[in-house]
Amino acid sequence: MSQPTSDSVAVDFDHDQSPPPTVAPEDVVFRELCPAADVEEGVGKPFTVDGNHLAVYRYEDGFYACDNRCPHMGYPLSEGSVRDGVLICHWHHWEFDLKTGGCFLTNGDDVASFPVEVRDDVLFVGIPKGAREAARQRLVDRGMRTLEQGLKDRSTFLIAKAVTALRESGATPQEIVQHGLFYGAHKTNEGWSSGVAILTLCANLWDDIDAADHNLFLVHGLTQIANRTSGSSRRQRFPFPRSNEDPDLVTLKRWFRRYIDLRDRGAAERILLTLHDRGEPVETLADFVFTTATDFYFTGDGHALDFANKMFEGLDYVEWRGAHEILRPIVVDLVSRTRHEETSRWQDAVPVLDPVLARVDEIWAANQTADEKTLDVSAFAQVLLGDDFEPIVQQVEEELRAGVSPLAICRAMTYAGAVRTVRFHLKNEGDWHDVANIYSYAHGLYRAFQLAPSAELLRGLFHGAVFCTYLRWLNMPSARVPREGQRLPGEETFDSPEQMLTRLQEFADFQKVAEAEILVNQYLEEGHDITPLRHALAHIMLREDAELHMFQVLEAAFRHYDLSDDAEEKRIHMLAATRYITAQKVMKNILWSTENAERLQRGELLSDRDDDD
Ligand code: FES
Repeated sequence: MSQPTSDSVAVDFDHDQSPPPTVAPEDVVFRELCPAADVEEGVGKPFTVDGNHLAVYRYEDGFYACDNRCPHMGYPLSEGSVRDGVLICHWHHWEFDLKTGGCFLTNGDDVASFPVEVRDDVLFVGIPKGAREAARQRLVDRGMRTLEQGLKDRSTFLIAKAVTALRESGATPQEIVQHGLFYGAHKTNEGWSSGVAILTLCANLWDDIDAADHNLFLVHGLTQIANRTSGSSRRQRFPFPRSNEDPDLVTLKRWFRRYIDLRDRGAAERILLTLHDRGEPVETLADFVFTTATDFYFTGDGHALDFANKMFEGLDYVEWRGAHEILRPIVVDLVSRTRHEETSRWQDAVPVLDPVLARVDEIWAANQTADEKTLDVSAFAQVLLGDDFEPIVQQVEEELRAGVSPLAICRAMTYAGAVRTVRFHLKNEGDWHDVANIYSYAHGLYRAFQLAPSAELLRGLFHGAVFCTYLRWLNMPSARVPREGQRLPGEETFDSPEQMLTRLQEFADFQKVAEAEILVNQYLEEGHDITPLRHALAHIMLREDAELHMFQVLEAAFRHYDLSDDAEEKRIHMLAATRYITAQKVMKNILWSTENAERLQRGELLSDRDDDD
């Protein structure tokens, strides 16, 4: 697979706000409104003409029409008032020139105005031909400006407004994700953040969530990007100059590993940019990054490798547009995250792992030349769930030498992560991230082996195997997993699968984790359609101000449910997602902002809310 080499800055962060072009008189069609006498001085009157919502005012000797939806938050301008030729919105007091629609607020959007004529005491309004298309383009432009502002201001509501307007006006999810990834990489000095990871997960899980939740998912990622970025840009870096003496890949890889080792971020970034500038295949860039992510023990609790994989998935999704910026933050993860051979917790693993890691080339060669051996994923997951890492490391090596695919071991490790999650006792509340880390890490490693398998990457298997044993304490005491045929207390019955999923939502709202698991277990046993269950679990997560690990767990569970043919494995993956998501204590600001923005987009009034919240 080769990577596109688009090096142009893919996102314009300084949108030009030039005035709309003048409409020629022959391009305007006049439509009858009402007798002029029906419009009282200073009292706005609403109309809808050819799908355009209008507010009409009589002021002094003239009549004036403008778009009825305030560009701020959609309040009807026909409910406003006019003072000294200034139209005032009564919700947040934005002010506009009644005649031109010009907004007096700095950075406030103008409101579109329409010509009005009086013919024989009857009002006619002039609607420009193509007004709806022009309105659509205005929405896209406004959406991009609003998104930019929301990201800078860290305003979830502005971001939600932008996302709903952009989606409504035909912007693709790919365009929005690309904008977010570029902004998230460009406007920070930190590493790969939870926000850009969530946006990539949004792209990956797009078909697993209900369409009604798509905006919400985008807003989650963009909000977290806003929280992790500042207004200032990352310092520019450039690839090496081209010459007849370009260093070869062996040299570049050696240099890259050395500079990561030395924690020299600038030098490593230039090498990565040079590979991209040369148009090297994706597999080559991935090999450099995955190798350095595993040069040290379980770098950053596995996040360096997991995020590197997310970066390549994200770049793939946006077709590598803006890659020269999106590639850079991962170097920060590679140089600055914890190298666990330096931690006291891993000191007992160093003498066991070092000799094994020193012979990975030999293990790889044996693996590649042996006949492929099938692995019983469930049985090997039980091996990985053992207490003592030394025999486990030995068995991983033996299976590899015998021809077992590293992908199969990754699947077993992911399944072990699911078991760790369903067996995680609620009393261990503070350590949820650890079980999510092994679950997501093992899935990331699986994806890394799909993209760029190598001897060096085998080290990730051994790191994961050791980490899995360190988590055994989190399953003591071990939580109960729903039994076959187990039903809710009181033998609660349901008329339909939909009713079961509504009940699941209620259990989640009250953090009734065990009840939620029993219900999902019953749903699976009864063989109901898996898609609505996926939608329901995703919705439960998206209703909260969810953090990255919830998204990661959901992806690992859904993908490995699909990969397995084993009913018990499938059950455990879905129970792991259920348990993790229903057990988290979180808030709901992102949900409410997105709902408000969507209501405004539909023309509903937030001021008229009839719900109880
Ligand atoms: S000022 Fe008009 S909706 Fe806020």
